[in-house]
Amino acid sequence: MNIKGSTNIVGLIGHPVEHSFSPPMHNAAFEALGMDYAYVAFDVDPSDLKSAIDGAKSLDIKGFNVTIPHKIQVMDYLDEIDEVAGLIGAVNTIDFKEMKGYNTDGIGAIKAIEEVTSVKDKNVVIAGAGGASRAISFYIAKYGAGSLTILNRNVRKAQNLAEDVLNSGLIDSVKSGSISTINDCLIDADILIDTTPVGMHPHINDEPIALAEDMHEDLVVFDAVYNPNETVLLKEAIEAGAKPIYGIKMLLYQGAESFEIWTGKKAPIDVMEEALRKTLNLE
Ligand SMILES: NC(=O)c1ccc[n+]([C@@H]2O[C@H](COP(=O)([O-])OP(=O)(O)OC[C@H]3O[C@@H](n4cnc5c(N)ncnc54)[C@H](OP(=O)(O)O)[C@@H]3O)[C@@H](O)[C@H]2O)c1
Repeated sequence: MNIKGSTNIVGLIGHPVEHSFSPPMHNAAFEALGMDYAYVAFDVDPSDLKSAIDGAKSLDIKGFNVTIPHKIQVMDYLDEIDEVAGLIGAVNTIDFKEMKGYNTDGIGAIKAIEEVTSVKDKNVVIAGAGGASRAISFYIAKYGAGSLTILNRNVRKAQNLAEDVLNSGLIDSVKSGSISTINDCLIDADILIDTTPVGMHPHINDEPIALAEDMHEDLVVFDAVYNPNETVLLKEAIEAGAKPIYGIKMLLYQGAESFEIWTGKKAPIDVMEEALRKTLNLE
């Protein structure tokens, strides 16, 4: 990387940030396109968030990704919030040109799924009702799903999220329930999205949220967990003849979307995916 006096800086703020996969992914993209940009990670204590944003403005930083624990609080320091990010109530990307916040996590999941099938008019079941589920659910609604069923261990949380998504007016049919009813819900489902950490390293042999016998061949199964690459749930999907989608794709496409917001250029997906796979030791 050739850092010069003119180099544009983008980066990540979070706490902690040292294990982030974003710097190698974005820097590979800038290098491949010969762009005078560099991506760095900044560990920002929550008590320093406002001064970090003010400082970034003064330093002419072009864009930030935002990760835990700043995704909600940072909205207080922006001039504008993208409509869906506002509904989600969290941003993971800032464009300093307009001091505008976006949430590309949900779009990342949609683009991962749309490599295999369109979300439009589909019956979608999502497991989990935490941050990732919230980001994805509003985009599932925005992209025209026919119905959305949110299942969670804590049913109240699923009900609250379902109510918020329904109130957005983006979709007419949103149901909620206990994750223990997943086998019944999968009978008519076209797409299953797992946003629980079940099966995540080091618990790779956890009991998956659904078994092959609960699935059918026309089902598409996306697991947001990316470590390991092939989770217990995706193994069950493959056994059932269903189509698996890997969590790494969501990481990739949320990054690509941020890249395009900051630079206005089409993200070099293949280059970014190769860098991500290398960082995750998935070559
Ligand atoms: N691929 C990507 O780019 C990407 C991006 C974001 C997140 N993720 C992954 O998505 C997962 C969730 O992240 P998050 O930020 O949404 O976390 P979160 O806000 O903590 O939510 C976790 C959700 O999983 C449920 N859950 C936790 N343990 C469970 C278990 N043993 N059985 C059933 N349900 C369980 C929780 O249910 P309760 O409410 O009942 O506790 C909650 O709904 C993580 O594995 C994360 O790595 C991936």
